[in-house]
Amino acid sequence: MKNFVIAIDGFSSCGKSTVAKALAKELNFVFIDSGAMYRAVTLYIQQNKVNIENEQGVLDALDNIHIDFVPNPEKVQILLNGEDVSDAIRTMEVSEYVSEVSALKPVRKAMVHQQQNLGKKRNIVMDGRDIGTTVFPNADLKIFMTASPQVRAERRFAELGAKGEVLTMEEVKENLSHRDHIDSTREESPLRQAEDAIVLDNSELNQEEQLQFVINLVKEKINLN
Ligand code: DC
Repeated sequence: MKNFVIAIDGFSSCGKSTVAKALAKELNFVFIDSGAMYRAVTLYIQQNKVNIENEQGVLDALDNIHIDFVPNPEKVQILLNGEDVSDAIRTMEVSEYVSEVSALKPVRKAMVHQQQNLGKKRNIVMDGRDIGTTVFPNADLKIFMTASPQVRAERRFAELGAKGEVLTMEEVKENLSHRDHIDSTREESPLRQAEDAIVLDNSELNQEEQLQFVINLVKEKINLN
């Protein structure tokens, strides 16, 4: 039987990973956070002071980057060249640079290729920006998530605060709108809603309601097949 692929795309901090993770757990699918891969590449580039204007330098860096996910239903664990970088990729320093790095063509090409391989034979839920449009244009189910800018900023602010990062709400808003702008205007696979994606605006929904919404969509799809 063919594997089942669920693509969840949308803007920064609108709760994609939370829904994707819960859905994968419920369905016993593998969850892949594609943003974590771009963050790991960014971390490597920062740690090794790679000049992103130098294409050869970026290509060499990509040759030296190996990303693995550790299957763990409770927490997304990501390894960069064998080292657990799950927390290191979530800092503001990485968030401030990740959109620039993920707009680079060689980076996108390498990540898209790895993501397609990860979803070749397994049932997966993958979240990101271009999963339904570029990585898996034939995904069995595509969801496009949105939430109001205020709600997204509040969520991100709380998330960073819980980790001890001291930032103002203005700084958080600024970072989100900066990333949204670069992510949706870049030349290579920009963030946009796939034509056949179903929109989930979760500004007013709790996690349980969001999960129920997507589970119902999966059930409909399975009944149709
Ligand atoms: O989902 P996230 O906020 O952790 O993603 C971090 C950045 O990675 C985001 O600002 C844009 C980039 N990204 C991307 O370009 N394509 C994806 N499929 C996933 C993330």
